[in-house]
Amino acid sequence: MKRPEPIDEEIELKNNVYIESDTDTKGIITYCNDYFAEISGYSKEELIGEPHSIVRHPDMPKILFKILWDRIQNGHNFVAAVKNLAKDGRYYWVFTHFEVLRDENGEITGYKASRKKISKHVTEVLEPIYKKLVEIEKEGGMEVSGKYLTDFLKSHGDDITVDNMLEEIHRLY
Ligand SMILES: Cc1cc2nc3c(=O)[nH]c(=O)nc-3n(C[C@H](O)[C@H](O)[C@H](O)COP(=O)(O)O)c2cc1C
Repeated sequence: MKRPEPIDEEIELKNNVYIESDTDTKGIITYCNDYFAEISGYSKEELIGEPHSIVRHPDMPKILFKILWDRIQNGHNFVAAVKNLAKDGRYYWVFTHFEVLRDENGEITGYKASRKKISKHVTEVLEPIYKKLVEIEKEGGMEVSGKYLTDFLKSHGDDITVDNMLEEIHRLY
């Protein structure tokens, strides 16, 4: 499917309404709720069966998705701030909780993501960092952007990691 051309216009999300989707172990969408379809601008039929990168925004650093996949494939849940691209080119920022789904034997069967509106305050802090990471990736790839992210977090204290950075940003800024 052809990717939409991004435009610099934000979609306003409702408070307390979740954008939900499930994927298989490869990141192919197997379920999404009505609000996902409404906000992304795609019908459920267009979404189900597609890779989740269908809503990937070029402003998102690759390293964030690498860390996400590393966490969930190892059986850990994860939270992240994600900027997504709608079908009409507009964007929406979401606070996303990624959860590992398992069968009765404990085998990973897929993943679930629940997203809600994120505070402006957090995206204002993250936007320049993500921008910098994307720039770095163009030159040096994820090895260099990963180091930049680690150094950035370290500069804010020893206890800050990619796993708690959203909470910490709330606390610090
Ligand atoms: C449950 C689940 C939900 C996901 N949701 C999103 C999402 O909302 N937006 C996004 O860009 N990537 C999402 N991803 C990550 C994508 O699978 C993919 O790694 C990412 O879009 C980067 O794609 P690329 O490697 O093709 O550039 C999700 C992955 C999983 C497992």
